[in-house]
Amino acid sequence: MFIAVEGIDGSGKSTTIAELEKFLTARGHAVHRTAEPTKLDTGRAIRELLGQKNERPYTRHELALLFAADRLRHLEEEVEPALAAGKTVLTDRYLFSSLAYQSVDLPYEWVAGLNRFARLPDTVLYIEVSVDTALSRLARFRQGTEIFETRAFLEKLRANYEKVFKKYTGKVNIVRLDGEVAMSDIAADIEKRLSGIFPKKV
Ligand code: TMP
Repeated sequence: MFIAVEGIDGSGKSTTIAELEKFLTARGHAVHRTAEPTKLDTGRAIRELLGQKNERPYTRHELALLFAADRLRHLEEEVEPALAAGKTVLTDRYLFSSLAYQSVDLPYEWVAGLNRFARLPDTVLYIEVSVDTALSRLARFRQGTEIFETRAFLEKLRANYEKVFKKYTGKVNIVRLDGEVAMSDIAADIEKRLSGIFPKKV
């Protein structure tokens, strides 16, 4: 089973994924946890470009191509072999991040085209959070903000995720998690919302 976790910056994704991993493991899944951008060459190059200290210029087209390249190698070298070995792959961001983020300032169809060879996951878990909550988390937990973290950008992004999910309704299982719950209540919320969707493996 291939599960992608998505959300705007500041949605509480890291904590949620850690709890998801525990939840799935307790239900008998052998979890392979991973993320995009990856730790492979292109993923590392992307993190460098997006980082606070970067002074090298890059274009948005270049960035979109890098995300797509990183994804295809991620699939080939990591995701597909793990799935073939019977693992449940849990990725922090995937295809829908490119469709939502890169289409903020590039044509959606171009971004979708770049990613046409990236297979769909079985389930997308979308952490739904308000822009106010996201911004206050980002202010608390991060030292500097990345280019993607202004209010206007986060609002556009939230709207883009909704547009993308509309397009994919019926093609992929989209499950929403409440990103407004306190960090301490995330585990209980996951249990409540996902027990019916991920039954215990025997
Ligand atoms: P992270 O903060 O969730 O690790 O992700 C790094 C940033 O990269 C985040 O702001 C979202 C962005 N991103 C894209 O713009 N497109 C993509 O395809 C992916 C995977 C991430």
